[in-house]
Amino acid sequence: MELLGVVTLLPLLQLSLGEDLNNPISQKVLATISNLGFSTSFASLALIISAIFIFKALVSFAQNYWTIRTIALVRHSLQSSLARGLEQARYEFYLEQKTGYLANLMTVESARFAASLRIFSRIIVSLVYSLIYIPTIIVLEMEISLIIVVVGLLAFLVARPLIRHTKALSMDVSDKTASLSSEMVQFVESFDYLKATANSRRVRQHVLKRVNDLADRQIRMGRRTAALGAIKEPLAVLSLLGYIFYNVEMLSSSMASTVVIALIMYRVLSHVLTLPLAIQRLHQLIGGVHYISNFSREIWKAHECNGSIVIDSLNDDIIFQNVSLHRKKHHILKGINLTIPYHKSVAIVGESGAGKTTIFRLLTRLIVPDEGSITIGEHNFSDLNNEAFRSRLGYVTQDPMILNDTIATNLTLRLGPNQKENNIEKMKEAARAAHCHDFIEALPQKYMTQVGERGASLSGGERQRIAIARELYKDPDILIFDEATNALDAETDKIVQTSIEKLHGKRTIVVIAHRLSSVAKCDHIYVMAAGRILESGSFKNLYENRGSFFRKMWDHQVADTK
Ligand SMILES: Nc1ncnc2c1ncn2[C@@H]1O[C@H](COP(=O)(O)OP(=O)(O)OP(=O)(O)O)[C@@H](O)[C@H]1O
Ligand SMILES: [Mg+2]
Repeated sequence: MELLGVVTLLPLLQLSLGEDLNNPISQKVLATISNLGFSTSFASLALIISAIFIFKALVSFAQNYWTIRTIALVRHSLQSSLARGLEQARYEFYLEQKTGYLANLMTVESARFAASLRIFSRIIVSLVYSLIYIPTIIVLEMEISLIIVVVGLLAFLVARPLIRHTKALSMDVSDKTASLSSEMVQFVESFDYLKATANSRRVRQHVLKRVNDLADRQIRMGRRTAALGAIKEPLAVLSLLGYIFYNVEMLSSSMASTVVIALIMYRVLSHVLTLPLAIQRLHQLIGGVHYISNFSREIWKAHECNGSIVIDSLNDDIIFQNVSLHRKKHHILKGINLTIPYHKSVAIVGESGAGKTTIFRLLTRLIVPDEGSITIGEHNFSDLNNEAFRSRLGYVTQDPMILNDTIATNLTLRLGPNQKENNIEKMKEAARAAHCHDFIEALPQKYMTQVGERGASLSGGERQRIAIARELYKDPDILIFDEATNALDAETDKIVQTSIEKLHGKRTIVVIAHRLSSVAKCDHIYVMAAGRILESGSFKNLYENRGSFFRKMWDHQVADTK
């Protein structure tokens, strides 16, 4: 299109300069135009050129818009597929990941991946241009195509060593960016401790070293891009000057014909010489492509097991039969047999590292047993649909999860201002039961108060009470509490325990507690040590058996509080 416009410019220029129209290009152009039924007057030629360039502008708009749209769509599908993969990955897959690395993957690397498409499209366009231009020029003037091919090959020869190292550098940049984001996340998360213990300076120096490393790699890549960008113009201009000198000085050709052909040659050369630069840019983005494709492969391999049975409510006993779990050669759980009866309360107690939280992770299907089975009624856990099962489960974790959002969002896990009236009442009811309504009402913005990163503006006990209130608001069939009240003073603990006791006989409740007095009212207690269940029974039975492990633990705690 552009070529046609430029070629048509030649007879137009010659007409306006009063030159002869007897050169082969002008004659070919004029013959084609009159064959198509158009007049070869100045006005008609000008009109044809204008029409051609307006059409070219439309094509260029469509091409740019299409490229940007494709990039946006690719990025969207990439990010949603990664998010889906992350959601469905095994719990243990997350344990191996670094937060900053995942964040970097979802944002920076996905963008780099999508951006590589733009470069790719530029390479295709340049290739298409060159492939169309060169044969057309061969028809018009053989020597020019030869010059272009020779200059193009020369450019590739010069560019080769610059391109070669870019790929390795690019993968290194991706690595360094991921490490930097990971360390920044850790730095921010542990800021209070690091600052209070004068460790922040040491960590900052470490982070700065990463920043320097990254800058160094980027500068080295930039040097290559700049060098490739710089050789493009001189090569094109030198070829042009050579051509013009040869035609005008040696062959005494017409000035108009030489200028127009030089213009065509310049356009073609700029496309041909863009190729090495674009290929280098593509290599620059390879780090992103490599990371994304590797991670996508890993994430889909780490898909968690999911069953097909959807149950509406968990209204049966849960039974662990001979459940064992080991990591490498270390046994975490060994031959666990326990029953969590429907609508009863069960406590799990035992020393630190005994395997209590691991039992909860099995109960929520975050992990699956290596041996033995877990069933609810007639269903094996492995046959259940995870989402349906988990939606009927409430879990207060040992380290309560708090979002950097408002208290209302933290309680309901939905956006606060859009709550329906009855949900607000339900939310306040749950907050009262978890003994946090009063302190929330005393805050200037009440339920709309922002709590900061991981609830930084709340006390440890307030965070725990919000986490309990959230599960009470959810109102599931089974409630599990892992050391849910360990940060509360004895008085508050008692109030919260009373609220939980109110659910006795109405919900299945499983608690892990360090403070043995708080499990006194549970129907059944399991005592664990070193991944096994040592003993079990009612509080009365265990307490009255003077030789029991439970009684020893109780006596220790009583002695400690005296
Ligand atoms: N993914 C894992 N890989 C390897 N070991 C693990 C893993 N998860 C837990 N463990 C180990 O299993 C043991 C039991 O851990 P668990 O968190 O269940 O203890 P716990 O009884 O809840 O202790 P605490 O009272 O201190 O919370 C610990 O020794 C722990 O280091
Ligand atoms: Mg634990």
